Amino acid sequence: MPNPFTENRTRILAVASGKGGVGKSSVTTNLAVALAQAGHSVAAIDADVWGFSMPRMLGIAEPPTQDADGAIIPPEAHGVKLISMGFFAREDQPVVWRGPMLHKALEQFLTDVAWGDPDYLIVDMPPGTGDISISMAQFLPRAEVVVVTTPQPAAQKVAQRAAYMSRKVNLAIAGVIENMSWFTCEHGERYELFGAGGGAQLAADLEVPMLGQVPLEPALRAGADDGHPIVISDPDSEAAKAITAIAHKLSVELAPTRIYRPELKII
Ligand SMILES: Nc1ncnc2c1ncn2[C@@H]1O[C@H](COP(=O)(O)OP(=O)(O)OP(=O)(O)O)[C@@H](O)[C@H]1O
Ligand SMILES: [Mg+2]
Repeated sequence: MPNPFTENRTRILAVASGKGGVGKSSVTTNLAVALAQAGHSVAAIDADVWGFSMPRMLGIAEPPTQDADGAIIPPEAHGVKLISMGFFAREDQPVVWRGPMLHKALEQFLTDVAWGDPDYLIVDMPPGTGDISISMAQFLPRAEVVVVTTPQPAAQKVAQRAAYMSRKVNLAIAGVIENMSWFTCEHGERYELFGAGGGAQLAADLEVPMLGQVPLEPALRAGADDGHPIVISDPDSEAAKAITAIAHKLSVELAPTRIYRPELKII
């Protein structure tokens, strides 16, 4: 089957970070759900082969099924259809992936899955700047990269490297999300536990929009652990509002100006 995402109208957002543990998967999951809540059809690929976590975060326990033609039917939760390396690997077994295997797996996720024609395809990228970026650029040349960073300068420098890698393979950068920006205590006081300014600095350095800041919130962690994304379980929380606003910014304010017109295709 051909890869439907090279020509269709689906907007592709690849969420990347320079280093691990910055909350990339949590942000990706909640962003996907927020887009679905806003009425968009959303597909997601958890391409983080080492740290696949989206099935748990979305609360999907059942693996994909297959239709009569052998196409893989992705399971769905909270309006998001998901394919993850986690469906094909055992959680307690290490998986050794070489570059070509990653490349092949990503290709199969794009071509062998009955995705339909979603408005959005959100990809949780593995940390780092290596092989998968090159594969992404090859299979999804229209993908826009969203860079997640934490506020401290050290994280921002590493995130910058991931962004430069994206540019090297000709992927556009949609903007920067700063996660873990502050913690608001029960008395309403804000604590900037990881410093401040990294996200804004990175966005300025890359000359891309700052998409938003997501505070630290225990309910976000709890929701990620038990499959209830915070944008659904606690939509009035600061973190949920921040992520919903980011989804709005991406889908409305920063919507691509180029209009897809299949009848205008040059062959
Ligand atoms: N804004 C936040 N508030 C509270 N906890 C958070 C927040 N963002 C992330 N976390 C928690 O931090 C941990 C790391 O987050 P997550 O797994 O999303 O990061 P990651 O960048 O995808 O990591 P990895 O590199 O391992 O894939 C998780 O336990 C998650 O629940
Ligand atoms: Mg992750």
